[in-house]
Amino acid sequence: LAANLKSRPDRYRTALAGQTLAMVFEKSSTRTRVSFEVGMYQLGGIATFLSSRDIQIGRGEPISDTAKVLSRYVNGIMARTFAHSTVTGLAQHATVPVINGLTDLLHPCQALADYFTTREKFGHTRGLTLAYVGDGNNMCHSLMFGGPKVGMNVRVATPEGYRPKAEIVAMARQDAAAAGTTVEVVSAPRDAVKGAHVVYTDVFASMGQEAEATVRLKAFAGYQVSPELMALADKDAVFMHCLPCHRGEEVHADVVDGPASVVFDEAENRLHVQKAIMLMLMHR
Ligand code: CP
Ligand code: NVA
Repeated sequence: LAANLKSRPDRYRTALAGQTLAMVFEKSSTRTRVSFEVGMYQLGGIATFLSSRDIQIGRGEPISDTAKVLSRYVNGIMARTFAHSTVTGLAQHATVPVINGLTDLLHPCQALADYFTTREKFGHTRGLTLAYVGDGNNMCHSLMFGGPKVGMNVRVATPEGYRPKAEIVAMARQDAAAAGTTVEVVSAPRDAVKGAHVVYTDVFASMGQEAEATVRLKAFAGYQVSPELMALADKDAVFMHCLPCHRGEEVHADVVDGPASVVFDEAENRLHVQKAIMLMLMHR
């Protein structure tokens, strides 16, 4: 559906005519906000941006009341929050679909766009390997969940103390076993990257972890995706990053700005993939 939306957007111009998406943001965003807003507009609907600084959840109105009230006005809710339980709480109490636009635990829309981008670049995904180097964060978790669903192996390299959550690894491994793929967690970046088709990294300090930035920069020494590390990957390997990135920290500028980088395709594909998500959830 995302591929159809990308190649023939004109066919879907009125697919969500008259519908409204509420976009709740507790954190900053460039890609998520703009791609959902533009996506909704391109489908004939509108999106309304709600910063937690301005709406009543910021002053303590319960998430359950917020979910029930928004459900009386809008046809769908997208939310970017700190606690994952805020998004699941919205989903539990809303009577309209709720889309996770990033929590401290997961970033599923980005992972969907990234696996869609992988399919575009290689023509398929089955049997390919994604290597994730860096922090075992929300991005890492969602990539581990997504890999088995598209027949890909996922190899994660993080320092001790910054591993992905054990329960997420266990769930992803169950999915992988059923799909005939693998999910591995190692320490050395080179062990993860060797022969990989997609090399992925994300910031060392995520939103909400700004105070840990200096400590983390030290802890992640040796975890930069450098041209030397990329050279260990498959000869046709692509470099991915959800963005925003910090050149010189988790990735060398020559990699993110180099020929293997597909970071702006990933960003574009957020639009097409999320339009597909909204159509699947909201089309009547
Ligand atoms: N990748 C991503 O979600 O970017 P934003 O924080 O700009 O939305
Ligand atoms: N891990 C990052 C992803 C940003 C899109 C964060 O949560 O800040």
